[in-house]
Formats: sequence, C-alpha cells, structure tokens
Amino acid sequence: MKFLDAEFVQGFIRMATDGWDQGWHERNGGNLSYRVKAEEVESVKENLTAGAWQPIGTSVPQLACEYFLVTGSGKFFRNVSIKPEDSICMIELDETGEQYRIVWGLVNGGRPTSELPSHLMNHEVKKLKDEKYRVIYHAHTTNIIALTFVLPLEDKVFTRELWEMATECPVVFPDGIGVVPWMVPGGRDIAVATSKLMEKYDLAIWAHHGMFAAGEDFDLTFGLMHTAEKSAEILVKMLSMRPDKLQTITPTDFRDLAKDFKVNLPEEFLYEKN
Ligand code: 13P
Ligand code: ZN
Repeated sequence: MKFLDAEFVQGFIRMATDGWDQGWHERNGGNLSYRVKAEEVESVKENLTAGAWQPIGTSVPQLACEYFLVTGSGKFFRNVSIKPEDSICMIELDETGEQYRIVWGLVNGGRPTSELPSHLMNHEVKKLKDEKYRVIYHAHTTNIIALTFVLPLEDKVFTRELWEMATECPVVFPDGIGVVPWMVPGGRDIAVATSKLMEKYDLAIWAHHGMFAAGEDFDLTFGLMHTAEKSAEILVKMLSMRPDKLQTITPTDFRDLAKDFKVNLPEEFLYEKN
C-alpha cells in the first residue's frame, strides 16, 4: 500500500487539518504524534527506508522498537494535508528507547517536533497504564492560554472552572486536568513535568503556552482538546461580561450527574468555594 493511502496516515492528516481549522496552529505552533500499530507498520513496510540514528533527548525504554507518526519541527499544520511528505515523518525507536531514526517523510530535511521528549514520555506513561492509548496532541489553544494569566495555576481550580462551564466536561474528562507552570519548552524537564501529570490526567495545560491531550484514537483525542478549549472559551466570555456568576453547576449537581452518567468525579474537585 502507498504510505499516504493508509488509514492511520489519513486519520493523522485529517486531525492536523481539523486543528488548523480551529485556529490552534499559527505558523508551526503545536505538534501531533501517533503510536503506530504493528499491523499498520507492516502494511506500509515497502515505503520505509532507514535514516541515521539520533538521540531523543530522553529515555523511553518501554517504547523500544515502536514506530510513531509525528509532525516535523518548524513545520506548519496548515501544510500537513498539502505536502505531508515534507511536513510529517514516521520514526522508529531503537531497542534502548534512547534513539530514533526517520523511516519515512521529511523529504526536504528536518527533524521530528522539538517536543518529541514530551510526546514520547507521555506515550510511555499512557501505554503502561492502558495499551489502547496511541495519540498525543499539543495545541496552542487560545482560550486556555488566556485563562492561565488570570486563574491560579492549580489543577483543582482549572478542573472545577472548566467543569462548571459546560455540562459535558465532567463526563468527557472526569479525571480532571493538570497544570504545568511556565517552563522552557522543548526539553526533558518540561517532558518530565508533563508526563507526571499524564499519570493522573488525559489533559495537561502548559501555562502561557497551550495544552497536551492524550487519547486512544484521533477522534477521541481531538474531541478532548476541543471540549476543554470550548469550555475555556465560555469562561473567557463569562469573565468578559462580569467577574462573578449569578448561578452555576454546584458540587451537589456534579454528584447527581456522576451517579446518572456513571462516572467517578473525585471529591478533591468538588470543594466548597467562598
Ligand atoms: P515544533 O515546530 O518543533 O513542533 O514546535 C512547535 C511548538 O508548539 C513548540 O511547543
Ligand atoms: Zn507549543
């Protein structure tokens, strides 16, 4: 099969295009990675060539010998559907989980996203918890970023405020959302901080920068990002009208919702406000 005809490649390209359409990917902002299934690697095998091994910049031994489809560093989401072979690549990890090599794509040179350490460390955490997780997505979501300038940078505050702004939020992300304070992007330190939050959550905010989402497939991961960002947009609109709420969803309401929708909403997020 031709590489670009494979369903997983098409799904990846469509998700990048959907993110661009949302306005979350100015210039080269954001990045996307997918942990490719063994049978999917097999289906495109005839297209693969091996480049030189390069250091990942961190160690992900649990992902040894796995393949990932990833966006290229400095590449524009706008161009992923227009010139995919220039904008994205497939990489293979070595048996130590410390090096990668490009096996397809980036035909005009370049390297995988500068956030590869964060992507791979998040993949490792998620794979260990649940083999079904395959997608890690980083987007520069406007309203979430705006909120990181006015809300305390605490998991419990962001979780509770986003839950209150849209009834489906506690059902879509019942575990809540984590917050990483501002850190230099692109390195191992921010990757360690983010992957620690990914042990508990499927969503992590990078203060004054954007958000990371993890999920089983492209639809669920995009939907998660979209739901959290939509809720943030409602909060930004509400705060623009007046600083306080006349009414909202209460902790008791959340407990009732949890019962009917059969989700577990941790009590740490249902605190009394004063
Ligand atoms: P890359 O172009 O290297 O993926 O970087 C974009 C980005 O959003 C960094 O956080
Ligand atoms: Zn970014």
